[in-house]
Amino acid sequence: MSVRKLAAGNWKMNGDLAALEQLDAMVEAAEDASCAVLICPPAVLIHPMVARVAAGDLHVGGQDCHAAASGAHTGDIAAAQLRDAGATHVILGHSERRADHGETDATVRAKAEAALAAGLTAIVCLGETEAERDAGRTLDVIAGQLDGSLPAGATAANTVIAYEPVWAIGTGRTPTDDQIAEVHALLRTRLSERLPDGASVSLLYGGSVKPSNAAQIFAIAHVNGALVGGASLKAEDFVPIIRALDAAQG
Ligand code: 13P
Repeated sequence: MSVRKLAAGNWKMNGDLAALEQLDAMVEAAEDASCAVLICPPAVLIHPMVARVAAGDLHVGGQDCHAAASGAHTGDIAAAQLRDAGATHVILGHSERRADHGETDATVRAKAEAALAAGLTAIVCLGETEAERDAGRTLDVIAGQLDGSLPAGATAANTVIAYEPVWAIGTGRTPTDDQIAEVHALLRTRLSERLPDGASVSLLYGGSVKPSNAAQIFAIAHVNGALVGGASLKAEDFVPIIRALDAAQG
């Protein structure tokens, strides 16, 4: 069964209007590639980024949304507002939001359900801490996060799962191929049990993906793309990652 490949960039709290010039080469690479390409900039850059990519083959997404449709939530952004600004996807439950803002699996699921209701694709992030891995609890943690965070109504068309080990984010350290394969196999099995089209849900790996390790990571079974932080900020890093995903089998 074919699974949609996705090269996604998470700019986190980086970038400004001047940084949008990085987009031009990324759009060109996206147009040449068969995989989908997405950049999730800070919310204030979504609309100008959408304008810059125009009809180009590059999607723009948010990094978070509120679970409510609207209302008195100062500083928050509703899923429909992201959609209105031109976003097609939203990252939810990133470990930095789970850690910095106390987001639980239930919070993440509620936000993801709001995203689906607004017509966005939800990218739900999961990942173990180093202490959890050292304690041999990785698979239990991931299974629990998946069960707790997966939105009602999830399908392969509206939901993407990103496995991002917390200890691999921004550290330059990546898991072994076997460690990634083990988690992605678990995700595939569990999604196939829970969803009629779970075998087709795109599964991303995230955490210190770079041009130098992308091809190796994309060769791992059930890795259908990447959620890239630092290496998505510059075209010279992200374009080779897009090309590596495009060239990968699967
Ligand atoms: P880095 O690629 O900078 O390690 O970040 C990964 C990440 O958190 C993407 O969401």
